[in-house]
Amino acid sequence: MIVNDYVAANRANWDERAPMHVASPDYQVERFVSDPEHLSGVVRFDMPRLGPVDGLRAVHLQCHIGTDTLSLARLGARMTGLDFSAASLEQARRLAERTGTDIDFREAELYDAVDVLGAESFDLVYTGIGALYWLPDVARWARVVAGLLRPGGRLFIRENHPILETLDVHESGIGLYYPYFEQPEPLRWDEPGTYVQTDGRSVQKATVTYGWSHGVSETITGLLDAGMRLTQFVEHDSAPWNALPGHMVADDMGEWRLREKPERLAASFTIQAVKTHSVE
Ligand SMILES: C[S@@+](CC[C@H](N)C(=O)[O-])C[C@H]1O[C@@H](n2cnc3c(N)ncnc32)[C@H](O)[C@@H]1O
Repeated sequence: MIVNDYVAANRANWDERAPMHVASPDYQVERFVSDPEHLSGVVRFDMPRLGPVDGLRAVHLQCHIGTDTLSLARLGARMTGLDFSAASLEQARRLAERTGTDIDFREAELYDAVDVLGAESFDLVYTGIGALYWLPDVARWARVVAGLLRPGGRLFIRENHPILETLDVHESGIGLYYPYFEQPEPLRWDEPGTYVQTDGRSVQKATVTYGWSHGVSETITGLLDAGMRLTQFVEHDSAPWNALPGHMVADDMGEWRLREKPERLAASFTIQAVKTHSVE
């Protein structure tokens, strides 16, 4: 497959999903408008590990419709959001405007982020929950993260655990169907619908997407090779979406874990890393 084909297909898919996500009760967009204290469940989950972000120059990579970006701005960070989906950014800008929040949203492909935003411009890079899967090369992603951070700056990522990417639900139950480690060729999906509740009336035309799993060690090695020092690695038994329908239950925070024996599955992980030096 020509490497840029995946960008066009995936972007069209995210462009179609953006208005569906704004209308979904799961993203709670109206709640952000009615309650100036409201924070996304994702950011609330992260807060004990994230710590204070007040005054930090922060970039949210693959920011989608901006609910987590806005939440970080509400915690006092000076936010930039980057995404390649114009329709997602249109919604993100509208939400920032409706809530009177100053956020700089930029449209760009992830691998162009340093060119677009400037090298060593940020104290914090925040990303995750369905970000890495859309990128073919996690080592190259790590170099982008390091390139954006000033020396001493920090990466915070909570991401779906790659073990989750290997699993699927079939008639016989949950099974191991897909690669754990990064593969040169992507997985191709052709599916209508999305990962949150919708009104069911939306018709999707851009149903084809391409994705790549990345083993945890590949992500960590990519960061170390890019001049970052690992400061935290935590695995969680939950993820903020219903990843294995029929087999998961949600708690009050909107975190989904296995209904039975949740201790058997790491559903997401948090990695923090600090930039120690620049790598040529
Ligand atoms: C699941 S969202 C992640 C954001 C956040 N967790 C959320 O749910 O709001 C994935 C985002 O990645 C963006 N994306 C996918 N591939 C990208 C790429 N190559 N460059 C920039 N953005 C990309 C999509 O447009 C989408 O907005």
